[in-house]
This record gives sequence, structure tokens and C-alpha cells, in this order.
Amino acid sequence: MYHDYNFTAVLSASARAAWQIEDVLPESAELDFTRPFMPENLARTAAAPGLSAAERRVLNQIRGHEYLVIFGLVEEFILPFVLDHARPQLNGDDARVRALLGFASEEAKHIDLFKRFHARFVEGFGSACATIGPPEAIGAEVLRHDPLAVALVILMIEWMTQSHYLDSVRDDGGLDPLFKSLLRHHWMEEAQHAKLDTLMVEALAEGRSEAEIQAALDEFLEIGVFLDGGLKAQVGLNIDALEAATGRKLGDDERAALLEQQHQALRWTYLGSGLTHPKFAATLAAMSPAAHDRVAQIAPAFC
Ligand SMILES: [Fe+2]
Ligand SMILES: [Fe+2]
Repeated sequence: MYHDYNFTAVLSASARAAWQIEDVLPESAELDFTRPFMPENLARTAAAPGLSAAERRVLNQIRGHEYLVIFGLVEEFILPFVLDHARPQLNGDDARVRALLGFASEEAKHIDLFKRFHARFVEGFGSACATIGPPEAIGAEVLRHDPLAVALVILMIEWMTQSHYLDSVRDDGGLDPLFKSLLRHHWMEEAQHAKLDTLMVEALAEGRSEAEIQAALDEFLEIGVFLDGGLKAQVGLNIDALEAATGRKLGDDERAALLEQQHQALRWTYLGSGLTHPKFAATLAAMSPAAHDRVAQIAPAFC
């Protein structure tokens, strides 16, 4: 066994990590728009071509806005998926039921928190930022796939939040403190979700033949292509928001160069940092070495 995750241990870890929305976003707290919101490792805005330092900071804050919306959006399909996974076995294993319902409840809290942060952002930023959606349509497209494929997407996303905080946010002293605190608190609770996702993937993969696992992996990759298309569209909306906020219209070549560079930055943020997470890779390898190798082969394109 490559891990020791179990529902009872997750339950007590979850009780220790729990926080209240009001502690993360007090009524009086304001975002500091003189600072970046996203760590450079994810935003890659300090390397954005054709922009001044001030424009790069604005683009970084727009990336923060996008992070709030994209995470709110993915959590809107994680929540019903986890409830559906819990529902067929509500009798018997009490720790399992409590852990999965706690997971869903925390995700509902995160959706609420991301929305409140979003409202605080809109108050302070001063101009409009559009985002892809609506979340229900994106969620419906993801959830129509094989549950094992969806569980793998969720596993990838939740490990991703762990590396976002530990590898990029924790040691970054320049970030807006409120945004940094949001990412820290999200990391604290997501650590338990990633373990529950691992158990969900194992339960859904159990008894499947190698061919059935590969078919689920095909669907996982299909969802990845769908999400990547959404990320590319989001980059275009981010650049529109940058132009609106700064009052400068980019030339066609400038826009194309920025779009390409930022598309790769979003790919790394929302796909590559999860696809390459060692814990995600370990779950794939335990399920099917061939599935692990297929993902390892495509991952560099999203880094
Ligand atoms: Fe979450
Ligand atoms: Fe989560």
C-alpha cells in the first residue's frame, strides 16, 4: 500500500483544520491593490511580454480574480459528485459517511468564501473582469463522464491546491496578505479532500479490467481537453480585462504573444501542477502503470 489514508484519520484531521469564513475574510478586511495576489510561479505575470511593471501587477490581480472564479466553478461540480458518491452507502461505515459529508460541507463553505472574496475584489478593482461559464454548464459537461474519470480530475485538482500553497504561496512575502491567507486556509482543508479523493478513486477503480481503466483514462483526458479550451478562452477575457483596467489597447502581435504566454501559465496553474503532483502520479501508478505512463507523457505540455 502506498498510503495509509482512512476515513477515521481524515475525520480527526478535518476537525483540527476547520476554520470559519469570518476568520479568513473579516468584515473590515480589504485587499491591497498595491500588491500582487498570485505567486509568480503560477501567475507568470512578471514574465508577461509587452507590459510595463504596473500593467503586470494589474494582470497578476486579474489572475487572482480568475483563481477565485475557476476554483469556485470546479468546486461546484465537486460538491454534487461527492454527495452522489456518499449516497449509495449511507448505512454501515459511519466514519465514511461523516468524512464524505464533511468534505461536501467544506466545499460548500469554500464556494461561499470564494464568492465573498470575489465580491470584495470587484468592489476594489474598479473595472469589470469577465469569466468563463456559466458554472452549471461546465459542471454538467464534466459530470456526464465516467465517475472514475471525474474522480481523477477531482484528485488532480485537490493535490494541485497543495502544491500551489506549499511550493508557491507559503514563502512569498510580497503577496496581498488577505489573498495569501485565503490560499493557506484552502490548503489546510483541501489536504483532507485529496486523501478522500484517493479513497474515492480506489473504490471506483476496484474490479475494473485494464481495458476499462484505460477507457476511463480516455475520458479523463477528454475532460482535460475541455478544461484546457476553457482556460484558453479565460486568457482572452483576462486580456480584455487588462485593457479595460489600464485603458491601453494591445496591438495584434502584442495580444497574440501575451495570449500564448498566459495560456501556458494557466495550463500550469490548473492542469500541469496537478498532473505532475507525485501523489496524483502514485495513485495512477497503483491503479495502472500504463495509465501513469500515459499521463506522464502528456503532462510536460501543460507545465
Ligand atoms: Fe475547496
Ligand atoms: Fe476540496
